[in-house]
Amino acid sequence: MTSAALDTSWTHTTVLLEEAVDALTADRPDALGGTFVDATFGRGGHTRRLLEKLAPEARLIAFDKDAEAVAEAARITDARFSIRHQGFKNLGELPPRSVTGLLMDLGISSPQIDNPARGFSFRFDGPLDMRMDTTRGESVADWLATAETQQIAEVIRDYGEERFAVQIAKAIDARRQERGPISTTTELAELVAGAVKTREQGQNPATRTFQALRIFINAELEELQQALEASLSVLEPGGRLAVIAFHSLEDRIVKQFIATHSKEVYDRRAPFAAPKVMKLRALGRVRPSAAEVAGNPRSRSAILRIAERTES
Ligand SMILES: C[S@@+](CC[C@H](N)C(=O)[O-])C[C@H]1O[C@@H](n2cnc3c(N)ncnc32)[C@H](O)[C@@H]1O
Repeated sequence: MTSAALDTSWTHTTVLLEEAVDALTADRPDALGGTFVDATFGRGGHTRRLLEKLAPEARLIAFDKDAEAVAEAARITDARFSIRHQGFKNLGELPPRSVTGLLMDLGISSPQIDNPARGFSFRFDGPLDMRMDTTRGESVADWLATAETQQIAEVIRDYGEERFAVQIAKAIDARRQERGPISTTTELAELVAGAVKTREQGQNPATRTFQALRIFINAELEELQQALEASLSVLEPGGRLAVIAFHSLEDRIVKQFIATHSKEVYDRRAPFAAPKVMKLRALGRVRPSAAEVAGNPRSRSAILRIAERTES
């Protein structure tokens, strides 16, 4: 917990910038006047590059749950651009078959991680919050104060893939009974370090627990699934979907979603019926180059998956 390590510039280095923008725009000159969605505006790295590529009649609608991201978006004066302070689970409110390209760059931005007041990082002392949208919902501190010990263990095990989930949950319970709720990142990180018996090399013992609590408190996996389902209705035929995931739980959902909708499905109960036609065509996956990872270590786990909506 050193404040010396604190980066107060809170800028975000966009991951897979050209690759993601190309996935939506390259080889599609006729599509550049369409409606594009950046479902995770962040600090607008992808949005700004997209606006450079799109035609004058295009529209770019952005979403972000985070009020600070939305405030940053006010600096973009391009008339083609608008932003909604909403979760991307609301994508389905857009008109059916209206979207030409949809980008999702999942997870949190560097300004969120690096700001101690947001409580996302065990590296900085701050309130144990971790909400992307601080205007609604429950903070991690509030949730940990009342959740059942078993539920805490399940969250840490399922969303953090943490072997010591039960021990950590018991330590949290013992601590809150003895001294009241845990209210800071440092308190939680120290408590987890005491409960995790074998440390993974090069990884803080609290890494998995913090990831798990963040995913849970923001309903990240449920909202990703909802947004992917909504993409099938809002993408126009030929429209592209590009999703950047940063950990295996997210990437598995994206991969399975594209795989499920990229094949014809036969109904075993009606063997002579026509198969359900496929709704997506998988266009591949892209990893950051060695040069990108060297320049931005936070990009090292990124996986971009691309798919195209079929005519059906
Ligand atoms: C990795 S950052 C995006 C960075 C952005 N592409 C850029 O270049 O600046 C992810 C952003 O998505 C937002 N976000 C995450 N989950 C969201 C959700 N379910 N709905 C809306 N925004 C979300 C976060 O608040 C964060 O600002």
